[in-house]
Amino acid sequence: MIALASDHGGYQYKERTKALLDELGLAWKDFGTDSADSVDYPDFAHAAARGILDGSCDRGIFICGTGIGISLAANRHRGIRAAACQIPEAARMSRLHNDANVLALGERLVDWDTAASMIRLWLETPFEGGRHERRIHKIEIEE
Ligand code: RB5
Repeated sequence: MIALASDHGGYQYKERTKALLDELGLAWKDFGTDSADSVDYPDFAHAAARGILDGSCDRGIFICGTGIGISLAANRHRGIRAAACQIPEAARMSRLHNDANVLALGERLVDWDTAASMIRLWLETPFEGGRHERRIHKIEIEE
């Protein structure tokens, strides 16, 4: 199950992502927003991040204007590794080396074909494990 979230800046791409996931035969859960009306991206990042952490979703695709705000909010949750990506190689590496469980995209920064390529690549790329496993465990801090 893929958790989907956006603010108004990412709303159109969130709707397009649903169609893409349908094509790929992947189930999704939409945590909002539900229109292009102005909203606050942390509200949707937090709701969808909780959907991943409670096990109802496996990973997420979160979209705002830049991918930055929504990834910053998501990354405040222990166990969420949200990668804001603008090129396909970043999306691929975020899986291979970082085991990113959230792909964050910016609707105002990348065209849809690039976004769709990133989504496909991110979904199909496995985590490499090994030395990267040790490193991702060092991301969380106790302070
Ligand atoms: C909303 O105008 C915009 O600030 C938001 O979508 C995002 O880009 C924030 O990082």
